[in-house]
Amino acid sequence: MYITSIKLKNYRNYEEIKISPLKDINLIYGKNAQGKTNLIESIYLTSTGRSHRTSKELPLVKENKEGFYIKIKGMKEEIPFKIEIKYRKGEKKQIKLNNLPVTKLGELIGVLNTVIFSPEDLQIIKQGPSERRRFIDILISQTNNKYFYQLQIYHRLIKQKNALLKKKNINKYIELLDIYNEKIAETAFFIINERIKFLRKIAVYFNNYIKKLSNNQEFGEITYFSSLGNTMNEIKKTLVKNKNKEIKSSISICGPHRDDFTILINNKDVKQYGSQGQQRTAVLSLKLAEIDIIKNETGYYPVLLLDDVMSELDISRRKFLTESIKTKQTFITSTEKKNYVNFKEKTTFFYVHNGQIDKR
Ligand SMILES: Nc1ncnc2c1ncn2[C@@H]1O[C@H](COP(=O)(O)OP(=O)(O)O)[C@@H](O)[C@H]1O
Ligand SMILES: [Mg+2]
Repeated sequence: MYITSIKLKNYRNYEEIKISPLKDINLIYGKNAQGKTNLIESIYLTSTGRSHRTSKELPLVKENKEGFYIKIKGMKEEIPFKIEIKYRKGEKKQIKLNNLPVTKLGELIGVLNTVIFSPEDLQIIKQGPSERRRFIDILISQTNNKYFYQLQIYHRLIKQKNALLKKKNINKYIELLDIYNEKIAETAFFIINERIKFLRKIAVYFNNYIKKLSNNQEFGEITYFSSLGNTMNEIKKTLVKNKNKEIKSSISICGPHRDDFTILINNKDVKQYGSQGQQRTAVLSLKLAEIDIIKNETGYYPVLLLDDVMSELDISRRKFLTESIKTKQTFITSTEKKNYVNFKEKTTFFYVHNGQIDKR
């Protein structure tokens, strides 16, 4: 899968640009704060429906403008696709796929598959559980539409349940609470087991990279922690068991929205015990595993987005990364052109300067 053209209008610091990237490597280079990450962000937004830097649309609109427009065309095998995103301040964003309106985000996710490497990736390891849930949810959604829909249903149910738990006269609504819990058990069962299945698969690739990057000195594992258990019986039991606690605290305290997974290197949680180097290796391996699993699940290599990562990696990890790139198309941002001039892969150069992009 690869992108053949990108058009941006009033997006971040771009007024109007159109570029035609090629297969293989596209190097987006230029000084700081010129728009390199903004371009990568627009690709990611088209792929997942949201930015990797903000959950809101407003910051994406160019200063003093009323809205933005993104159009990305690409090829999947030999079939062309076109995605358009249009946003006007105060309105809902409109998405079109091949000229037809997309009413559910689930129809967009999975059309253009991407894997992004950015300096923020380290947060998957260092931060709290919500970063890890976000990572796994976006990844599974890219390859499994049903998962995305179930997740939306689940979050809606939790929202409704929380509203109920906040009622002063909650004791009048116990039956309704039980009905919610029944429904929650069903979607939670699906979500938990998909996550477990998926993490098991990703762990195999992950471990391969950990081993390679450490010359077989280390091995990696990923384990999922479900606050509800993973059989239907356990899930229902835990929901019943926690009912009074939830009523007391007026919030739903267990379920996939509270779960977490642990990344282990040599049996130790890399978040708690990993060195800086091990944490970087873990993140790099996780991201590389993400490429493999998307290829495996969908049949296509995703478009790879490498934002500012090369400068963050030491020489051996950088070499490992560039040698591991098997995807059809990669976007790399950098402040330097010179490191890429003699790259063995075919490279197209784009110079970014103050919201302008020139092919060089
Ligand atoms: N909504 C916006 N309108 C205008 N300029 C913006 C907007 N959002 C970000 N910018 C500008 O974009 C620039 C940062 O672009 P970015 O792509 O992150 O830089 P880099 O080239 O270093 O990756 C900054 O100058 C910032 O002020
Ligand atoms: Mg940047």
